[in-house]
Amino acid sequence: MASYSCPGKIHLIGEHSVVYGKPAILAAIDRRTYVSVRKDRDEKITISSKGFGSFHGSVKDCLDFSGRLDSLHGKGDFKKLFAAVRKTPSSSLRALAGKAAKELGIEEGFSARFKSGIESNAGLGSSAALSLAFTKSLASCFGIRLGDKKAGKISLSVERLFHGRPSGADTAICQRGGIIWFRKGTVKSLNGRKKEILLVRTKRESTTGEMVAKVKAMDPQKRIAIMDELERLTFEMRKHVSKRGNEKTVDIFNSAQQSLRALGISTPKIGRICDVVREIGGGAKLSGAGGGGCVVCIHNDLRSLGKALRREGFHPERALVGERGLRLFKP
Ligand code: PMV
Repeated sequence: MASYSCPGKIHLIGEHSVVYGKPAILAAIDRRTYVSVRKDRDEKITISSKGFGSFHGSVKDCLDFSGRLDSLHGKGDFKKLFAAVRKTPSSSLRALAGKAAKELGIEEGFSARFKSGIESNAGLGSSAALSLAFTKSLASCFGIRLGDKKAGKISLSVERLFHGRPSGADTAICQRGGIIWFRKGTVKSLNGRKKEILLVRTKRESTTGEMVAKVKAMDPQKRIAIMDELERLTFEMRKHVSKRGNEKTVDIFNSAQQSLRALGISTPKIGRICDVVREIGGGAKLSGAGGGGCVVCIHNDLRSLGKALRREGFHPERALVGERGLRLFKP
C-alpha cells in the first residue's frame, strides 16, 4: 500500500492574471487530502471516500472513459467534457482513476481510499491536492518512481479534465508547499514565514472554467488594464510577503480585491466580508476563481478580526499558511 497527503492552497495574489502570463503568489494551508492505494487481484478499480462518493468498475471501463474525455479535451469541447466528468461524484472518481492509470500505464486493479479536509469548489485547490496525492500513491503502489516534474505533469493532466486549461499554479503550490512565486513555466519558492490567517467560506455555484471564461469575455482594453495593475501589486506583495507584520500586505490585499471586483468575479457576500475586515484595519480578498469561495482575511490582531466577523454573522476559521507540500504518510 502507498499513502500520500497533499495540502490545499490559497492565492495570496495573482489569480486570473496568471492565466494571462502574469505572476502569482500562492501559499499552502493546513488543510490536507489523504490518499491510500493498494493493488487488487481482480481487474477492478474501487475508490471510496469520506463525503466525496465512491466508484467501482473495471480497469478497461476506466481507461476507455479516460480516452473519451481526452478526446473531448483535445477538441476543446469543455461543455461536454465537464458534463461527463461532473455528472455524478462517481463519474468524477472514474475520470480521476482512469486518467491517472492511463498516464502511468497501469492496467491492473487497485483500491483507493481518500479523506479530504479541503472543501471542494471553494478556491482551496482541492482537485489539485487530490490529483497529486492520488497520482503519487498510485505510482508508488505499482513501484513506478515518479520525479517531482513528472508527478506534477501527470497530475496537471488529470486536473485538465476538471478545469479545462488550468495555469498549473495550484498543482505547483500543492506539490511544493510553503509559499511560491508562479509564472507559467517558472516556479520559485519564497521565504515566507508561517502565518495565521482567517478564512471565511461563501457558497460557490460556478466552476473555475466558467469564471475564467467570464473574464475572457470582458472588454479586452479594460481587462488588460486590470491585469497590469494585478501584476504591479503582485511584485509589490513579493517585497513584503516574508515580513513579520501585515502592514503593507493589508493594503495590497485590499487593492487586489478591488481589481478582482472590477473583473466581475466578486459577489455581494464577498464584498460585505471584505468591508467588515477593512473597517477594522485588516485586508481581505477572494481567493481563486471567484464567484464565491473562500475569502482570505489578514490582520495583526486575529482575535479582534474574528470577533468583528462573527458579530456580522460570518463564520471565520483560522488557517496556517506556508504548510508542507505533497508527502508520504502512515495511515
Ligand atoms: O479556484 P481555483 O482554486 O480553481 O483557482 C483558479 C485560479 C485561476 O487563476 C482563476 C485559474 C488558473 O488556472 O490559475
